[in-house]
Amino acid sequence: MTNNDHPVSSPAIDFRSDTLTQPSEGMRQAMAQASVGDDVFGEDPTVNALQAKAAELMGMEAGLFVPSGTMANQIAMLAHCRRGDEVLVGWGAHSFLYESGGGAVLAGVQFQVVGRNGYFSPYELKSAIHSEDPSGHCAPSTLLMIENTHNRGGGKWISPEQVGELAAIAHHQGLAVHIDGARLWNAAVAAGRSPKEWGERVDSLTFCLSKGLGAPIGSVLCGSKEWIKKAHRYRKMLGGGMRQAGIIAAAGLYALENQVDDLALDHARAQRLAKALSECSQVDINLDSVHTNIVLFTPLNVSPKEACAALNDRVRVLPFGQGQIRAVLHRNISDSDLEMAIKVLKDYFA
Ligand SMILES: Cc1ncc(COP(=O)(O)O)c(C=O)c1O
Repeated sequence: MTNNDHPVSSPAIDFRSDTLTQPSEGMRQAMAQASVGDDVFGEDPTVNALQAKAAELMGMEAGLFVPSGTMANQIAMLAHCRRGDEVLVGWGAHSFLYESGGGAVLAGVQFQVVGRNGYFSPYELKSAIHSEDPSGHCAPSTLLMIENTHNRGGGKWISPEQVGELAAIAHHQGLAVHIDGARLWNAAVAAGRSPKEWGERVDSLTFCLSKGLGAPIGSVLCGSKEWIKKAHRYRKMLGGGMRQAGIIAAAGLYALENQVDDLALDHARAQRLAKALSECSQVDINLDSVHTNIVLFTPLNVSPKEACAALNDRVRVLPFGQGQIRAVLHRNISDSDLEMAIKVLKDYFA
């Protein structure tokens, strides 16, 4: 069983991220054959096809192809909020921690972090919302951003119903709801649900083509036709208006049509890796914390940094959060790669 049809160039088996995937041969052919036009004029047929397909899959009216998940989240904040508004995010949210302060600089918003481990209860959300305050003390909360799956939360997903419950509270208080679904397809495959079921409960969402789906670049932002018009202007403002982008949109279309189901292989391999790590005396891992393609574990008696450095020539993993190491399964790690990596890890962590 393998989905590894284009070997990674490095001899080390690389679990640092699912952004390390290589375009498959079929994807490269689709890119080479793509029809293109000028997408700033709205005339690239392949970009238009990708946007229409993404919108349909997400159960939304329109889609917008953007270069990255970061730009998609930044556009969402610009298009949903005014300067001085407050955005509610779960602990560890990418939009808050890993977008280089873009929310503050570009959209001029402040963040309030809600809950722990990326997730929060309806009660925690209700308590966090600041409505328009006549005394002017509080920045009004106008946007709830939900990360699904959650990167810092170890790839955990929440169901459409859980999102629906949080969205109903937010909507009732006048907030818009955006899903940072960089890995929403992992959630869909793991949960056996259609991404539409999340899409129809929120105002906007984004998903990445360049992570587990294996495309070299790009994300799609989806929402209502009216809202995507606004988003389109902000994409241009941020320098994300692309020209003959059909070449890369073709990779995204190919991924959606051919590579989604392969995510299940990554999830199964994540379980296999976690189980093997649980058999090592020098590792602490909670098997129930592995939900999709991300494995978080704690090395005992050695710091994550030292362990990662010692393993680096053979197995690449990253120090992550408080005393943990992150390993991410992706389509360029085959079963045989995984078994080789497990041997190295078992030997090191005994
Ligand atoms: C949850 C989440 N959101 C957004 C992004 C940003 O995506 P990009 O690297 O395409 O900017 C990432 C990237 O890892 C992510 O994990």
